[in-house]
Amino acid sequence: MSIPPPVYDPPFNVTRASHAVLSVKDLGKSRAFYVDLIGFIVSHEDKDAIYLRGVAEACHHSLVLRRGDAPQCERVGMRVFTEEDLEKAKAWFDKAGLPAAWVERPYQGRTLHVSDALGAPLEFCATMDLKPRLIVDFEHHHGAVPQRLDHFQLLVPDVRRECEFYMRLGFRLSEYISPDGSDELLFVFLQRKGNPHDIVFAPGAGPRFHHVAFAIPESYLFFYVCDLASNMGFAENIEFGPGRHGPGHALFVYMRDPDGHRIELFNTHYQVMDIENEPVRWDASYAMKRRWQLPARRQWFVEASPFAGVAPRDPPRKGDPMTLERYVAG
Ligand SMILES: [Fe+2]
Repeated sequence: MSIPPPVYDPPFNVTRASHAVLSVKDLGKSRAFYVDLIGFIVSHEDKDAIYLRGVAEACHHSLVLRRGDAPQCERVGMRVFTEEDLEKAKAWFDKAGLPAAWVERPYQGRTLHVSDALGAPLEFCATMDLKPRLIVDFEHHHGAVPQRLDHFQLLVPDVRRECEFYMRLGFRLSEYISPDGSDELLFVFLQRKGNPHDIVFAPGAGPRFHHVAFAIPESYLFFYVCDLASNMGFAENIEFGPGRHGPGHALFVYMRDPDGHRIELFNTHYQVMDIENEPVRWDASYAMKRRWQLPARRQWFVEASPFAGVAPRDPPRKGDPMTLERYVAG
């Protein structure tokens, strides 16, 4: 099986990963983690929700925390370029027989709720309210200084099917990991905005929300935010890293928020937008060989936030990743 072909003239123009909506049990605890520790800017807060953005973001929010009984991911949000693209998206999902409904969402223009090929809930909007971009307002910079949302990662039971679906929508495959000597798609990195990823699919029971990633400006901030986490009682929330990814070449640290939702802080992405940029293949063994940090704990591979109202399905076969536990056991 070959990798799916790129579509250069997509049915509607998705421009980038935009925002995630997470439900959390205690907004005060979430605020301590996201604002006081990580350094997000509060665009709005009330008794039911906190709307956050990074310092490089002029749009109202990239992370919405809503008070709820059970921690879950309500939706991941993507931007389309124009209102006309929203109309085209509605027509495309209707024709494909997939759920698509207009909704009203605070601080966003008209919003379209859809489900993807495996049932993951997405929302598209073309506009948001604007807020000041604080990239040179250093007095507002704090913690890891999150700049902007970069990508999402989802666990799914059929990585190839999601890859084909998103590539039909114009997402381009930037990198992928396959078992040596096989064309099986184990991990796929798909992009619209011209860097290695907007959405990543990895194998596992799902669809479930694995993480949302935010770019940070300086490498020393990985260590600073870990020190700060330690001082503020969040040492246990550091799950994996700091370390260096193979695909994407990013430095990273993963943290779990007070409800177990996972965020990644990362930097050093590169451009991938020209027509001759072919997908970069990583043999699984080569990806392992290049790793200089210890492997992730098993929980990183299998734990993820459920999507609201979506029952996860198991993949046809269980994976056998190199976990920290396996590595230590020799
Ligand atoms: Fe990531």
